Amino acid sequence: MTTRGFSNRVNELLGSRYPIVAGPMRLISLGGMAASVSEAGGFGVIAASGLNAKELEREVSLARSLTDRPFGVNIPLYRENAREVIDAALAMGIGVIYTSAGDPQRMVERIKSRGAKVIHKVSSLNMARKAAGAGVDAVVAMGCEAGGHIGKDLVTMFCLVRSITRTLDIPVIASGGIGDGRGLLAALILGAEGVEIGTRLVATRECPVPAFFKEALCSAECTSTLVLGRETMPIRVLANAMALRAAGMASGSLDVEMAARGDDLYAPRAREKDSAIMPCGQVAGLVDGVLEVREVIDSMVSQARAMARGIGESEGWWLA
Ligand SMILES: Cc1cc2nc3c(=O)[nH]c(=O)nc-3n(C[C@H](O)[C@H](O)[C@H](O)COP(=O)(O)O)c2cc1C
Repeated sequence: MTTRGFSNRVNELLGSRYPIVAGPMRLISLGGMAASVSEAGGFGVIAASGLNAKELEREVSLARSLTDRPFGVNIPLYRENAREVIDAALAMGIGVIYTSAGDPQRMVERIKSRGAKVIHKVSSLNMARKAAGAGVDAVVAMGCEAGGHIGKDLVTMFCLVRSITRTLDIPVIASGGIGDGRGLLAALILGAEGVEIGTRLVATRECPVPAFFKEALCSAECTSTLVLGRETMPIRVLANAMALRAAGMASGSLDVEMAARGDDLYAPRAREKDSAIMPCGQVAGLVDGVLEVREVIDSMVSQARAMARGIGESEGWWLA
């Protein structure tokens, strides 16, 4: 099923049919995944974290061989090669650079002077103020219920999105805890003009992670995740034997062990469910099955549209 497109500032900026952004996932959101999301009407993103410029070029070419629709490239700004991959993405004509984990100030000018747009991930109102001041075109407001690295401030999506939309005029893409059309509609009602989804996309046929990760995610409840590294770089993961052991360690020891094992334990490369690090959001509790990317996006949009029509009437919210 295909529903009518949207029309708002985020949609205009991204050039996608729907303002639904695929959350970048290191070594998972590569060319194939980005193309699947963009083909389905969302906005695919290639995560450049862990890639060098040549590898990024390969993924961009792969995505372009699979779709004519636009997609973006994400880079955490603390990565040593951030500037190099941004330049590579711009040289390949990528129109939207999605920055995270760092100060966007020093990159905005560089990106905009090449005619591209910048969106930046924030986890507090203060970060959103700074990003807006730096001239980014939109912010992704990520609540602490999200999967993967979350901010230290631990603000929920509901409070974060509303605190930004009532204060700043910058377009906001809500992230964290959104997995269906009701979540999309709730975000729009809070004043967001788009959503970002990560965890829901892990449970798709196209997502290149081991089957045990998808199975664990689909059988998880909202209480099945925990936050590691709270004092350093908090990350929300599925609670398994590895995560529980890591949670008992001082965050310094966790960092040392992770660094020593490289990406071997990280979900897309891990071999075994008990020792894998599986970033995952609380919304896993709302995900029951593995779908195709297109089914996820179509059902989100059609459910949100059906509910928005005479909002609350069919649910009997209001007294006569
Ligand atoms: C498996 C996984 C890996 C992720 N890796 C990254 C990453 O490398 N960089 C990043 O900015 N965010 C990363 N995230 C966060 C997502 O981009 C997105 O912000 C988040 O998943 C949205 O919240 P949700 O999980 O509730 O949908 C990851 C999330 C997951 C589930």
